[in-house]
Amino acid sequence: MQLSDSELERLAIFLQKRVGIVLEKQKLLRFSRKIEDVMKKYKFDDFSSFYHAVRFHHNEEITQDLINAVTVNETYFWREHEQFEILSQEILPLYVKNNTIPTVRILVSPCSSGEEVYSIMLAILESGNLIEKINIEIVGIDIDSNMIQKAKEGLYSKRSVEKLPAHICKKYFTKVGTLYKIDDSLREAATFLQANIFDASIINKLGSFDILFSRNMLIYFNLMDKRRAFDTFYKLLKPKSYLFLGHADASQIDKTKFNPLKIHSHIYKRI
Ligand SMILES: C[S@@+](CC[C@H](N)C(=O)[O-])C[C@H]1O[C@@H](n2cnc3c(N)ncnc32)[C@H](O)[C@@H]1O
Repeated sequence: MQLSDSELERLAIFLQKRVGIVLEKQKLLRFSRKIEDVMKKYKFDDFSSFYHAVRFHHNEEITQDLINAVTVNETYFWREHEQFEILSQEILPLYVKNNTIPTVRILVSPCSSGEEVYSIMLAILESGNLIEKINIEIVGIDIDSNMIQKAKEGLYSKRSVEKLPAHICKKYFTKVGTLYKIDDSLREAATFLQANIFDASIINKLGSFDILFSRNMLIYFNLMDKRRAFDTFYKLLKPKSYLFLGHADASQIDKTKFNPLKIHSHIYKRI
């Protein structure tokens, strides 16, 4: 069956409220085939019963598949890597004080299929002897359950790793056919969780963080949801901690809560 414009629009309103992602007409049309595949998978042949299952009967399994169908998961290793250098060479050394080894908690929200989480770990491991002076706890969350599964598996395409410096790729990955598998020690050290940043029942259980990366998600949200997301980040971050954004994510940031750290770095210090 083919969904009509008005049916797609009803789903878009539901998804925008639930996830934050704004789905304009063009985007909706791009995703319509995937949405129809979800309907087929659960054997719905009319829109109305499908819509009722997700909207009113709160069928979480179908809703999750629907969410997975409309997320944009584009990511790759070493993306906007200048920030990893600032993290490992300038910010983390500030946490290394006296003789005590600090534990620094890092949240990557959203993490998509894990490349950003592992890139941060690689940047830290490659930063002299920093890793001996600091305990790192790193958590990646994303609303897309397929991406979280992929992040846990740690198996990547050539396209995904091609921006990594060759010596780092060689040191931490094993070739499996045409794919690249990240070292098990990194996989085991990272935690990945499926979570919606607007779902307080999960977010409130994560505890507080010293560093939060939120890159290339807020660009898909409307102004109100961007502000909601910044409020969530403010609550998740400890005082005087750091927020790393993508180059197009900072509009609507609350300047009474976050100060820019360095010009053009897209890094902010929580007040
Ligand atoms: C373009 S990817 C960015 C990944 C990575 N941070 C990067 O910059 O390479 C955007 C991700 O945001 C996730 N996402 C969208 N809305 C979300 C929400 N409400 N809660 C958590 N993750 C969300 C999507 O599933 C998608 O994987």
